[in-house]
Amino acid sequence: MFDKILLAVDGSDHALHAARVAAEMARGMKPKEFRIVVSYDSIPVYLGEPNMQFAIDNRKKDAEEILDKAIKEVGSIPGEIHTEMIEGDPAAAIIEVANTRESNIIIMGSRGLGRLSGLLLGSTSQKVVAHAHCPVLVVR
Ligand SMILES: Nc1ncnc2c1ncn2[C@@H]1O[C@H](COP(=O)(O)OP(=O)(O)OP(=O)(O)O)[C@@H](O)[C@H]1O
Ligand SMILES: [Mg+2]
Repeated sequence: MFDKILLAVDGSDHALHAARVAAEMARGMKPKEFRIVVSYDSIPVYLGEPNMQFAIDNRKKDAEEILDKAIKEVGSIPGEIHTEMIEGDPAAAIIEVANTRESNIIIMGSRGLGRLSGLLLGSTSQKVVAHAHCPVLVVR
């Protein structure tokens, strides 16, 4: 049923927990596709060169590290692991990838790197649950 899994990660422990759950699901369901997405903040245009390029490179490097950590956490699953790095709002990025790749489940953490520790659900999870066109598994 869930043969195209999309896992969203932000470098938080919550997301790594979601990665372990997604991996278990993949081992059981042997999906056709397993994709991991991370989004990074947009760079303000007023930065100008060369700072602009420096900022972009830094954000991409951080995003790559987040993806690498997630891939390690997923471990061995049937089939290849695909990754995507997208600039901009995380919820919009997750939903866009899910739509274009026709994912049939999005797996994510309930919280992320945000500092408001009282929240039950972070704003990214809330937006994705509200606007995704496929089932969403919010892992607690
Ligand atoms: N930049 C991102 N790229 C990909 N996935 C993300 C990103 N940010 C959050 N997520 C996913 O959403 C989950 C919940 O994070 P969320 O951002 O909603 O919580 P938070 O950071 O605690 O709160 P907030 O961002 O509202 O302060 C994360 O565990 C992760 O799966
Ligand atoms: Mg967040």
